[in-house]
Amino acid sequence: MAQVVDARLIVDGTTRELPIERATIGNDGLGISTLLRDTGLVTMDPGFMNTAACESAITYIDGDAGILRYRGYPIEQLAEQSTFLETAYLLIHGELPSEDLLTALENRVERHMHVHDGIKAFLNAFPRDAHPMAVLSGAISALSTFYPDSLGTSEDELELATVLLLAKTATVIAYLQRRAKGEDLIEPRREGNYVDEFMRIGFSPASGELHVDPTLRKALDLLLILHADHEQNCSTSTVRIVGSSQANIYAAISAGIGALSGPLHGGANEAALKMFDQIKESGDTVEQFVAKVKDKAEGARLMGFGHRVYKSYDPRGAQVKKVADKVLQQLGGNNETFEMAKQLEEIALSDEYFIERKLYPNVDFYTGLLYSAMGFPAPMFTPLFALGRMPGWIAHYREMLNDPRTKIGRPRQLYTGQTERAYVPLDQR
Ligand code: ACO
Repeated sequence: MAQVVDARLIVDGTTRELPIERATIGNDGLGISTLLRDTGLVTMDPGFMNTAACESAITYIDGDAGILRYRGYPIEQLAEQSTFLETAYLLIHGELPSEDLLTALENRVERHMHVHDGIKAFLNAFPRDAHPMAVLSGAISALSTFYPDSLGTSEDELELATVLLLAKTATVIAYLQRRAKGEDLIEPRREGNYVDEFMRIGFSPASGELHVDPTLRKALDLLLILHADHEQNCSTSTVRIVGSSQANIYAAISAGIGALSGPLHGGANEAALKMFDQIKESGDTVEQFVAKVKDKAEGARLMGFGHRVYKSYDPRGAQVKKVADKVLQQLGGNNETFEMAKQLEEIALSDEYFIERKLYPNVDFYTGLLYSAMGFPAPMFTPLFALGRMPGWIAHYREMLNDPRTKIGRPRQLYTGQTERAYVPLDQR
């Protein structure tokens, strides 16, 4: 893409120079903040297709080349060599931790995994079949009421909130899974590996203890890393905009969880698995389903396909597919659906409709299959996404607070309603 070296805008015959702000890599930005004052014009960009709302040094994506880097480190290297909590530290603090710093974070998070009895009562107040994303959003907001020392904007308060959010989100999600199955809640041990402990509290039978399979632990840890951040996506932008009002971090992340629940965002992992099941139940061949998607008549989309930024294979999707292959081979479960998904992908990738629109599998296409093979029920898929995304939301909230350019998020609009009219009393309408 050609780099813009100079930008001028002519409005009503007057030429204005627009400043260009430089990125270290990727798209530079055209500064338009003074446009309204200088010209009376707002910029119109539904869906923020072309609008950068902030500077950020956390995550870099090149959607054409299929590149994703956290703090400069390629996702493939982190997926292979890092752990979720180490990646969380990297995203939040900007550098890989020393061994001491990592151990300190791990210990602190593991020590805080227990949740207050009030939170347990809160979780128990919802219907057992309530969607866990709704309860999770409420529970994260409710956490703020139990930890008033972590609501402020000082480094210490933010660090405490970071630990509490990482620790308690895992336990809340594990508890939601147990509740849905009518099982009693198990106390965390306050030690041991974070992912192990999450699986133990989520899956241990009422009597006896789950021995976590190392392949599954590694697979889940990797899935969490792959979801840990994705720059200014819908939920992260939500966290930033709520946080820009100086609402506390729990309120901001609770709102982000609401945004993540939608089927066009994090909810796509559950929607993709449902789609595979529906294809099987309908008796349609994969080709017939793809034809329906292309026809658009029934409004069907190929869930887990397409992305606002990636116009090539989502690098996270490629990693998930590799792990799914390995885990499904080991567990021997859901292979029929996996084969169908691979066939769908192959057909779509060689079809003009998908090629023309640059639609490739995204991270959600294979994750549901993998979670399902690991034993997670479908409604838990998006909460797992939320658990993975937690470090990203925290990192963006903290970056936003520390950025001197942050202003309260408040877009403009193009008003298209009635101009002005006189009120008509009820008896004259
Ligand atoms: N299946 C079929 N057609 C699609 C799909 C799809 N999954 N995605 C996009 N298209 C088509 C659209 O119909 C449109 O076609 P047109 O040009 O003929 O009108 C074109 O591709 C562009 O699509 P938009 O919706 O304009 O693209 P946008 O960037 O707004 O949307 C999104 C991106 C929401 C991810 C979209 O691709 C989608 O709905 N995908 C399915 C849901 C999904 O998997 N979401 C998860 C995203 S990843 C994440 O959030 C973690």
